[in-house]
Amino acid sequence: MTAKDCILGRRSIRKFKSDPVSRELITELVETASYSPSWKHTQITRYIAVEGALKEKIARECSSLYPPNGDIISAAPVLMAVTIIKNRSGYERDGSFSTPRGDGWQMYDAGIASQSLCLAAYEKGLGSVILGLFDQNAAESLLQLPEDRELVALIPIGYPDETPVAPRRKPVEELLSYQS
Ligand SMILES: Cc1cc2nc3c(=O)[nH]c(=O)nc-3n(C[C@H](O)[C@H](O)[C@H](O)COP(=O)(O)O)c2cc1C
Repeated sequence: MTAKDCILGRRSIRKFKSDPVSRELITELVETASYSPSWKHTQITRYIAVEGALKEKIARECSSLYPPNGDIISAAPVLMAVTIIKNRSGYERDGSFSTPRGDGWQMYDAGIASQSLCLAAYEKGLGSVILGLFDQNAAESLLQLPEDRELVALIPIGYPDETPVAPRRKPVEELLSYQS
């Protein structure tokens, strides 16, 4: 599979088979995602693989913003909580911001890492979907995240039980312009 095959073929998967995903496979996905670029190679992204009763609790107690996300989490055998170590990416050693973008770079890093994780999953025959609509405070509390960490996204992962067609993309003419 070429990188292009992988990028074009990956879809957000919201229905999963009940087959379990091995911890060995999850480890391999995280190892692949660890090769994502990051601000000054700070590597701030941390993953928590959530299974069992805690996953169900997150599904039920953290999806009031968008209840369908609760069903997606419930159906997936594993939920990857993508977290970051705060105050590193985009920061100088003295704690000041490196650029006027402030702490925005930490989300940028987490986004790249999330896409890498989803592409790695796709290459292994797994489906995934990045979820942004969830109750962050409630989920952080259930995950018992320490003060220096922040939860960015939830990514249910499992073997796909649907083959959605790709939502239409904007034409390149709308996306790309040249300047000189
Ligand atoms: C930052 C972000 C947040 C998202 N949040 C949700 C979400 O809460 N629920 C959901 O079902 N899909 C969510 N998605 C998935 C998008 O809806 C999906 O990527 C988009 O419709 C394009 O479909 P595709 O991923 O199959 O190409 C999110 C995607 C991103 C990148």
